Amino acid sequence: MAKRALITGATAGIGKAFARALARQGWNLVIVSRDAVRMDALASELRQQHGIAVDVVAADLTTSAGLATATAAVRDAARPIDLLVNNAGASIAQWFGDTSITDEDWHLDLLVRAPMHLMDAALKTMSARTDVNTNDKGAILNVASVAAFALRGTYSAHKAWLVNLSHWAHFRYKDRGVHVMALCPGFARTEFHQRGKMDTSGIPDWMWLDADRLVADALKDLARKKAISVPSLRYKLLAFLSRNMPSFIVAAVARRGR
Ligand SMILES: NC(=O)c1ccc[n+]([C@@H]2O[C@H](COP(=O)([O-])OP(=O)(O)OC[C@H]3O[C@@H](n4cnc5c(N)ncnc54)[C@H](OP(=O)(O)O)[C@@H]3O)[C@@H](O)[C@H]2O)c1
Repeated sequence: MAKRALITGATAGIGKAFARALARQGWNLVIVSRDAVRMDALASELRQQHGIAVDVVAADLTTSAGLATATAAVRDAARPIDLLVNNAGASIAQWFGDTSITDEDWHLDLLVRAPMHLMDAALKTMSARTDVNTNDKGAILNVASVAAFALRGTYSAHKAWLVNLSHWAHFRYKDRGVHVMALCPGFARTEFHQRGKMDTSGIPDWMWLDADRLVADALKDLARKKAISVPSLRYKLLAFLSRNMPSFIVAAVARRGR
């Protein structure tokens, strides 16, 4: 029987690339985001091209009602989820301290509270499954960022939280049949920077990743049951350097801000 993946933030960028890649592999999908019109269009396209089932769940993950709707889809025993892709995200174009605390609450809800609730629901639901191989009850792929390895305000702090929790959960749940992986991409050409009104003019061409390519790399790492996936050699190197930088460089980067 075809497996089912639930992807948050599937209307654009990395989430849409996950939806397309998994659909090509024959997965049935549940896609979650706010824009029902865009999700319906993607669902029709994927059903037509790949003959898969696609359920559309319109939910704003920063609201309690939206998060409850998405969580219920993860828990739905009649339509079990084999892979949760916690991907929906956004950023704020200002430094913490210059932003409004209301915006920071929204940011925290989207990048921390939502993936935490969905991961909690997935871990409990997947661990309890008796209808599948006990070594392969399900997987959770949390989309973080290489920013998790740097000091860059609340965005990097939230992503560091997600990497830390995922890394722990990877070891805690691997013997219980649930595989957890954090994905840490570098800059990817999506709607992310435009939506966040961020100036990307100073980012050199070589630093940009293609969303389809990074998703293909991430799915290979997921199949290899890795704990942390950093797509592309250049970002593997940058992530290593970020984690092993002398403190004066860490301080210089932090002074530049987020
Ligand atoms: N692009 C990069 O350079 C980059 C690098 C590293 C990590 N990431 C991470 O990758 C993930 C995906 O980012 P992306 O680059 O693909 O961004 P994107 O192109 O802007 O897509 C963001 C997705 O998240 C959804 N979303 C945003 N707010 C939401 C909310 N409140 N409730 C439900 N869904 C919401 C959006 O759908 P709707 O608008 O329809 O709700 C959209 O589908 C994020 O977690 C981001 O932090 C991105």
